[in-house]
Amino acid sequence: MKHLLVTGGAGFVGSNFVRHVLETTFHRVTVLDKLTYASSRLVLSDLPPERCRLVVGDVTDAELVHSLVADVDAIVHFAAESHNDNSLREPGPFVQTNILGTYTVLEAARAYGTRLHHVSTDEVFGDLPLGSRTRFSEQSPFNPSSPYSGTKAGADLLVRAWSRSFGIRATTSNSCNIYGPFQHVEKFIPRQITNILRGARPKIYGDGRNVREWLHVDDHSRAVLTILERGRSGETYLVGTGNEHENISVLRTILRLMNRPEDDFDRVRDRPGHDARYAIDASKLRSTLQWTPRHDDFEAGLRSTIEWYRRNEPWWGPGKSAVEAAYGEREDAPADGS
Ligand code: NAD
Ligand code: DAU
Repeated sequence: MKHLLVTGGAGFVGSNFVRHVLETTFHRVTVLDKLTYASSRLVLSDLPPERCRLVVGDVTDAELVHSLVADVDAIVHFAAESHNDNSLREPGPFVQTNILGTYTVLEAARAYGTRLHHVSTDEVFGDLPLGSRTRFSEQSPFNPSSPYSGTKAGADLLVRAWSRSFGIRATTSNSCNIYGPFQHVEKFIPRQITNILRGARPKIYGDGRNVREWLHVDDHSRAVLTILERGRSGETYLVGTGNEHENISVLRTILRLMNRPEDDFDRVRDRPGHDARYAIDASKLRSTLQWTPRHDDFEAGLRSTIEWYRRNEPWWGPGKSAVEAAYGEREDAPADGS
């Protein structure tokens, strides 16, 4: 039985990981989370207190992070500002949390010799041309587009440097787009589902031809736990499914599953610098650690996610209007930004 420190464990991907750990191991978890707009205590409130403790605090607070790391066997680092659109509006918190936060975690891991897994994104590699068959691999060069992906690339490079120069025991995973329960309504899939549930039209950026690769959050949790347990220190693992879809096709599937006409959406102003396509070659994770995704059927995953949002309006409802008001300002602004 181990004791894990999970930073950002009250957010979407982190809280699903905490649930997975409690369900599949005997480990104890301490969550360190600032409880930003993207999270809430509610996500952890039904978990057994003797195995899951929430510490509300900032991952850049070195004294706090050191005191928590002193008491654990391993750290899984999810805490981040995570939304590209917000990073284009206000990059400062991304630099602070994603870069300084990772630096703080690395220094604590170094001080106590603690095993660290750093959770990152395929966006550090930039994007791929539409219509191509190329995929990102662990050898792909970094080429980030947005302040979000730039700060995640910076964090990944810090992990590599601390691993090589100070010998800390660290692994990194770079995942494709994740979906499932507890994702904030600012993100693409929950935004469209909750718009429809509220009687509003979904919003697609630009022509909707941008391609994303989709992974169910349970499969991501299994990948991270597998790497934490059996990954090699100093190594990076890409996590993906091959499940690539144009945004417009994902939206049409959601509309159909929710009994709405497939053209019942608005096209809105495109995201500046919008990445065209992400695609992952996950063969290293599959062949060396025998991980395979179990949620192969994307449409079934979307159906269960829609059901989850239908049943959990008390969780997502209170923040929905503010998110749509902020989007309204961006989407109604003139295209040249003036
Ligand atoms: P999220 O925004 O839902 O959750 C982030 C969590 O971090 C929140 O609970 C928030 O309160 C916490 N946090 C933010 N700043 C903090 C700070 N200064 N100190 C302590 N806690 C802080 O994001 P997510 O989608 O769950 O992403 C989690 C991680 O997974 C991120 O590192 C992200 O880059 C990575 N990731 C996400 C995806 C995806 O599709 N969602 C894909 C690949 C990688
Ligand atoms: O690839 C991994 C990344 O996936 C993670 O690192 C990020 O944390 C996560 O947010 C996600 O980034 P994206 O920018 O791809 O996700 P988002 O949900 O914001 O948008 C997905 C696609 O849908 C993208 O092409 C933009 C588009 N979109 C988004 C919204 C919110 C729309 O067309 N309409 C929308 O309303």
